[in-house]
Amino acid sequence: MTRFSAPKGVPEYFPPESAAFLAVREALSEPARRAGYGYVELPMFEDTALFVHGVGESTDVVSKEMYTFEDRGGRSISLRPEGTAGVMRLVVQHRLDKGPLPVKLWYAGAFFRAERPQLGRYRQLQQVGIEAIGVDDPALDAEVIALADEGYRSLGLAQYELQLTSLGCSSCRPPYRELLARFLAGLDLDEATRARAQANPLRVLDDKRPEVQALLGGAPLMADHLCEDCRGHYDAVRGYLADQGVSWTEAPRLVRGLDYYTRTTFEFSHPLLGAQSGIGGGGRYDGLMESIGGAALSGIGFGLGTDRTLLACRAEGLEPGSGALVDVFLVAIGDGNRGRVMRLLAHLRAMGLRVDTAYGDKGVKASMKAADRSGAGIVVIVGDDDVQRGVGQVKDMLSGDQVEVPWDDMAAYVADRLGQGEDAR
Ligand code: HAM
Repeated sequence: MTRFSAPKGVPEYFPPESAAFLAVREALSEPARRAGYGYVELPMFEDTALFVHGVGESTDVVSKEMYTFEDRGGRSISLRPEGTAGVMRLVVQHRLDKGPLPVKLWYAGAFFRAERPQLGRYRQLQQVGIEAIGVDDPALDAEVIALADEGYRSLGLAQYELQLTSLGCSSCRPPYRELLARFLAGLDLDEATRARAQANPLRVLDDKRPEVQALLGGAPLMADHLCEDCRGHYDAVRGYLADQGVSWTEAPRLVRGLDYYTRTTFEFSHPLLGAQSGIGGGGRYDGLMESIGGAALSGIGFGLGTDRTLLACRAEGLEPGSGALVDVFLVAIGDGNRGRVMRLLAHLRAMGLRVDTAYGDKGVKASMKAADRSGAGIVVIVGDDDVQRGVGQVKDMLSGDQVEVPWDDMAAYVADRLGQGEDAR
């Protein structure tokens, strides 16, 4: 045991399981990359005020879970708890919003929330996110949701659900909020909940306690109080989603943990994940850019939880990225043959093949064991006798069959066997 361990609540990924983590990140971002989203690399920390204004002071994420510190210049800095506020800051700062719209961006990486750790709830969490900024078109909402759906589906996930609602806009939400606040004021709520109802009545709808839920049965719902524009927008989004074969459940009580959402809002959840079932979520945030000092441009996006999506895959018995690490494994028997094998290795890698060899002073048995572990379909073995005769042995790891191949033809032979002969040459 070493004296040190990773900080509490921080998942680490290392071989062989890390291949699955990478495969999930790849799968979740691939649909966006094919749909014209450009990559952004965001700072890990920002001015604390950005998150206070952008994400919302009354949210748990900002008020209780941020890692905030003073830097050496006396500035208040916070580790990023989410990506949307940072993307908006970047777009405004670098004037990307002055170019063609929508601005479509994607990102992936770690976010930090000082939550109480448990399975699927981490202090360093990973997300793949996209943001589409500057066009208030319901077809764009449907694209964003469909891209998330496509990512999950491409991993083979079958049991996740999409919850969808509309949270209204700056014209229909305030009167609804009033209505809800009046309703809540009439309930017999404890002190803390009353205070929450005053700060943000919508958040009370999300209270998980059964005794509170029992009181909320007759609460007014935003979905029943949308203005005409919001209703039309939401109907159009649903139409486009249906066109794309995406299915969803209406979730009029859906409350997200961040304050910036307007209109279309959604969450993906997985029933096999227990309490931390949210595998991704997002929505429109039409006032966000303005609230951090930019133009009044609309936006919509999502953040998909990479860690939780991997847990969901495993819960469904899927192991993404579990294929072989390499295609070919090379084994040199006798020290004198090492150089020859290393030259073949360089040649095969240059042809685009995935190749490994046994390093260190290993005997034949240990080398063959390493070859087996690598998952390579074929192994090339060369010993003193082979060198003298100008050949090498090629073993098929599945059938166990072995053939002798002239050394000069070896690279072409291996490429052919792997079905890459044409493009490799
Ligand atoms: P969020 O719902 O706070 O949204 O986070 C998105 C996803 O990140 C969650 O659905 C979950 O899978 C994952 N996640 C969040 N917290 C944790 C945690 N403590 N441990 C493990 N996974 C976690 C956002 O962050 C928004 N920025 C998404 C967005 C983009 N909305 C519009 N654009």
